Amino acid sequence: MSQRKPRIFSGIQPSGEMHIGNYLGAVRNWVGLLDEFDAFYCIVDLHAITVPYDPGDLEQRVLDLAVGLMASGLDPERCTLFVQSAVPEHAELQWLLGTVTPLGELQRMTQFKDKSRHLDSVNTGLLTYPVLQAADILLYLGEHVPVGEDQRQHLELTREIARRWNARFGDYFPEPQPLILPQGRRILGLDGASKMSKSQDNTIPLLAEPEDLRALVRTAVTDPARVRKDDPGNPHVCNVFALHGHFSPSAERDDIEILCQTAGIGCVDCKNRLSDNLAGALAPVRDRARELAEQPGRVQEILAAGAARARGVARDTISEVRERMGLGSPSP
Ligand code: TRP
Repeated sequence: MSQRKPRIFSGIQPSGEMHIGNYLGAVRNWVGLLDEFDAFYCIVDLHAITVPYDPGDLEQRVLDLAVGLMASGLDPERCTLFVQSAVPEHAELQWLLGTVTPLGELQRMTQFKDKSRHLDSVNTGLLTYPVLQAADILLYLGEHVPVGEDQRQHLELTREIARRWNARFGDYFPEPQPLILPQGRRILGLDGASKMSKSQDNTIPLLAEPEDLRALVRTAVTDPARVRKDDPGNPHVCNVFALHGHFSPSAERDDIEILCQTAGIGCVDCKNRLSDNLAGALAPVRDRARELAEQPGRVQEILAAGAARARGVARDTISEVRERMGLGSPSP
């Protein structure tokens, strides 16, 4: 008995090297959904250009991200992996949905307020960013959206846009639900304070070589109350200990918990053990990435095939939407 799998959509920005925050917080979860869902995973380059960027390296960043995603286990045979700007219907639907999106809703988005606060001049793309995100999801009639907690508000707005459009032009779009995964909690950066992110410059790159991992982990902030090696530490306020929880065997993690509390291990040794386990856990990802990076032509082909498949679905949606909005069929 073959039953249609529910459709999911998610997006990730090509904002730089993949890091263990993206990996643990998002991509590893995405991989776990491949069997159960008909998954569309999109590298959202059109979102990435809403903040200052270098046009000379965007394409390379997109390719690097594709390599990182596939190396992390996103098998392009089992999902539709593609680049947003390769499917022009995203931008088209964004315009159409903008006509039912209240300006006030966009202005009160937390992410918009955070991002625009630091800028002298705010571009319109930053404001309409969530409309493009709604278009991403609704273009594929996505029912579930695996995202981090920080995207909850954008998803609420997506549902609101779907409801308003449906009310005006007839029931068509599903109201997509966030799929906030238990492991999707935020991973803190090397500063031990803010979410790991490229813009905070506090990341551990997923594909770093073991010696670079070690050097980076050495800079990680630990329990600030522990000044000397023979002070007992509190592992529960220490981000290095939290990372042990993700990358070290549970017996070793339990061991370290006690050793830290009894000053039986210093932060330097604790970090070295984390670096060894990180390097071991990420070795297969690094190997696959190296192999893929040597064949950029093949990666391009995979992305082109993904975009072709995505476009097939996107065209159907757009023609239904155009029809219902009274715009008729596009010229061939
Ligand atoms: N805004 C999302 C982020 O920064 C990325 C994104 C773009 C997205 N389009 C999407 C996520 C559609 C989920 C669905 O993480």
